[in-house]
Amino acid sequence: MKNFININNVKDYQDLIKESIEIKNNPYSLKKIGVNKTLGLIFFNSSLRTRLSTIKAAKMLGLETIVMNFNNEGWEIEFEEKTIMSKNSAEHVKEAAQVISQYCDIIGIRAFAELKNKNHDESEKILNSFVKYGSVPIINLESSCAHPLQALADAITIEEHKNKPNPKIVISWAPHPKSLPHAVANSFINMARMSNYDLVITNPIGYDLNPKVTKGINVIHNQEEAFKNADFIYAKNWSSYNDYGKILINDNKWMINKRKMEITNNAKFMHCLPVRRNIVVDDSVLDSNYSLVINQANNRTYAAQTILKKIILNEG
Ligand code: CP
Repeated sequence: MKNFININNVKDYQDLIKESIEIKNNPYSLKKIGVNKTLGLIFFNSSLRTRLSTIKAAKMLGLETIVMNFNNEGWEIEFEEKTIMSKNSAEHVKEAAQVISQYCDIIGIRAFAELKNKNHDESEKILNSFVKYGSVPIINLESSCAHPLQALADAITIEEHKNKPNPKIVISWAPHPKSLPHAVANSFINMARMSNYDLVITNPIGYDLNPKVTKGINVIHNQEEAFKNADFIYAKNWSSYNDYGKILINDNKWMINKRKMEITNNAKFMHCLPVRRNIVVDDSVLDSNYSLVINQANNRTYAAQTILKKIILNEG
């Protein structure tokens, strides 16, 4: 694998999940493959899980890591071509990506959607500029439209907890006071499609995701109807796609609570974290023994380790 930009970069997704679980069972079996190599982690946005789990994954493969937070440690980078840099940006990505590529053998990039201009976000300017001007493999640590490491960790978690081959999985919109991107939901839906799960999306009217992502998947605008017979409930907020980046409603009718979980088939509860308690989901669900949120965060390490291994060994 050259780059890991989205989950479609993987030849066989089922094999990838199996391999991730094998690595989880024997995490130090590959501790020498990264020796004398360096992973650079470049953050244009904050992170807890992605940053720490990827550093841990690198360490278990013998890789050194360098981390830089461009949002508070660096100057502004220019991404537009042929521009006169007379304003705030002090360095062009053409130089920055080439320079960082000299220090690193693999580069991870986190750059969220700005949620102001759909076309701009969908162009994945920051991530694609590093792919274009960098000279080493690039890993997506969450971009405008995709979070493939989270989706792989979620797939590992589902495989570990499912009790039927094709469980019913419901990804449910939930309220949030801030406007949030679509990346986690997009990658989760792609992952569920590649895993042949029985996937249902539920969201209020006005919150339908990109139709290219949801094509062929059942979208139900009645949350309680969608929850019937579910084996997994995955909660996530996202802003409107049609009325791009806007918050259309914000009442708590869509918050996940114990009563709604009782409609399901004893479903497990999932969320990528960070989560706002008693806004997205109430304490009784998050603190229950059917919540998998801590397991998901743990599996971020093995997702990252598997992807780093595939890049280092140039596997498909
Ligand atoms: N789920 C996730 O990507 O967490 P962080 O934003 O803390 O990295």
